[in-house]
Amino acid sequence: MDNRPIGFFDSGIGGLTSIPYIMRQLPAERIVFFGDTARTPYGSKSPQTIRQFTLQIGEFMAKKGVKMMVVACNTISATSLDELQAAYPDIPVIGVIAPTAKVVARDVPPESHIGILATKATIRSGAYVSKILEHDPSRQHIYSTACPAFVPLIEEGIIDNQIMDLTIHYYLDRFVEEHQIDTFVLGCTHYPLIADNLRRIYPDIRLISSSKEVATAVNIELSRRHMYAGPHNQEKDNVFYASDLSENFVNMIQRILGRDQDELNIRFKNLDL
Ligand code: DGL
Repeated sequence: MDNRPIGFFDSGIGGLTSIPYIMRQLPAERIVFFGDTARTPYGSKSPQTIRQFTLQIGEFMAKKGVKMMVVACNTISATSLDELQAAYPDIPVIGVIAPTAKVVARDVPPESHIGILATKATIRSGAYVSKILEHDPSRQHIYSTACPAFVPLIEEGIIDNQIMDLTIHYYLDRFVEEHQIDTFVLGCTHYPLIADNLRRIYPDIRLISSSKEVATAVNIELSRRHMYAGPHNQEKDNVFYASDLSENFVNMIQRILGRDQDELNIRFKNLDL
């Protein structure tokens, strides 16, 4: 039994989309979340900058005494996972891409035309394609496209409206048609927040979400290492840090977790250590 918290982090609010899955699957676990809202988005930044930011977050998480670090961000998982693992060899570090790619290879029919949607940095890394092919080298139809305007719009809360719909059409209509896409892999943890838009615009396309798959990976890893928390951890002990406590961060966290602000422990943390 291990009652230390699990550290989750993302460049912004995206990683929060994996938290409801964790709360459902592992209600006894205590969570420390950090969203780098002051510096989001990461997806259009260089790998060097993303690595530098990631190591700062890792240091913060280690100081918080986490038992596991969960990189609830595809961009960081694609660019900086090895550095983080090397910096903290005694703390298990879990990324989102490997578990999601495994589910894609296992559950998506072999003849499917898969569209990976992600940030520029994730697409540039080629991490999804190589991980899926590691599990199933026979796949012929994996296509990728970067959608860099999605994250800034989502961070602004521009979701349930025409601007987001037009942006989706702009990035994806041609991509879907050209490659006859039947499955989207939401390779950015912000994208589940526009899942309803995607379902409405492309009702026949299957969605696979990295935010959901990482929760299962955490569960498996805790079990393997005998690190489950005991029953006395409580939801009120969860803490949500952000490097900029914007009104939108507070609104989005309430929306994603389905709780009022006074039920949540939300704190500011400046990472310029
Ligand atoms: N949520 C992040 C991801 O999964 C990244 C967004 C960004 O900062 O560009 O890739």
